[in-house]
Amino acid sequence: MSDLEVCPFDAPLGAEIRGVDISKPLSPSAVETIRTAWHDHLVLLFRDQDMSDAQHFAFTAQFGTLDYPPELLLAIAAGEVRVEDEPMAINVISNVIENGKPIGVLGNGEAFWHSDSTFVEIPPAASLLRSLEVPDSGGDTYFMNMYQALETLPDELRQAIKGKSSKHDAAYSSSGKRRPQFTELDPSKSAGPIHPLERTHPDTGRKSLYLGRRLGSYIVGLPLDESEDLLNRIWAHVTEGDFIWAQQWRVGDLVWWDNRCAMHRRDAFDPNVRRTMHRTQLAGDRPY
Ligand code: SIN
Repeated sequence: MSDLEVCPFDAPLGAEIRGVDISKPLSPSAVETIRTAWHDHLVLLFRDQDMSDAQHFAFTAQFGTLDYPPELLLAIAAGEVRVEDEPMAINVISNVIENGKPIGVLGNGEAFWHSDSTFVEIPPAASLLRSLEVPDSGGDTYFMNMYQALETLPDELRQAIKGKSSKHDAAYSSSGKRRPQFTELDPSKSAGPIHPLERTHPDTGRKSLYLGRRLGSYIVGLPLDESEDLLNRIWAHVTEGDFIWAQQWRVGDLVWWDNRCAMHRRDAFDPNVRRTMHRTQLAGDRPY
């Protein structure tokens, strides 16, 4: 008899999964219970998980194909590396500097609302972030339910986005840093995959708003100023809305989110305090 329990939060999204050691192989029924909880609750929290990177990869792989970290996805999309030559890598998110070099990405600053790696044609289906060192305060991660963001969109905006798509260029990281290899400043002219603003989740069949990130975004077919105006109105709706759950990290937490119907952001934290996370990703298998 399994002790596995799905405990939904009193929030627009998220559930804690209790009674399971995810460092060990799961039974088929545990895999199905967790998969269903992922689809139902969008974000899952597993606490007190003491695991290695190899166990983190093995846990993830029970739910699908592993995907690469963002910078490698970009290099693969640009043809700079060949997928068959590239070993799977853990994505280290950290402000720690060792021997004068950052051990990970993002530093201690805020990360703005985004979905991961929507600048590739088939973005990851999920990200699984595990905490190794955390500050006492700051560095919380917030998640937004994008089904609700769409369902509560005023009629006028819902009509305005009908049938429209946006460009997801890779010019900016989630901390707002410009990637130097992207030189085109006008988002209507930059390169990047086009995704529908209203998308259908391939597993749940539910529709959600799909924005990627605000910086560098452009609604295809509109003059740039109209695209900016419409994006500003959509983003005002989502950021003023109440579709959010916040994760306050403890060491040993693993948070898994659905990258297709949830966005996330992170608070800044004290640069003198260490915060290190390791992340795996599950590849998407269908665009929508
Ligand atoms: C991210 O924005 O993907 C990182 C989240 C975090 O560091 O909490």
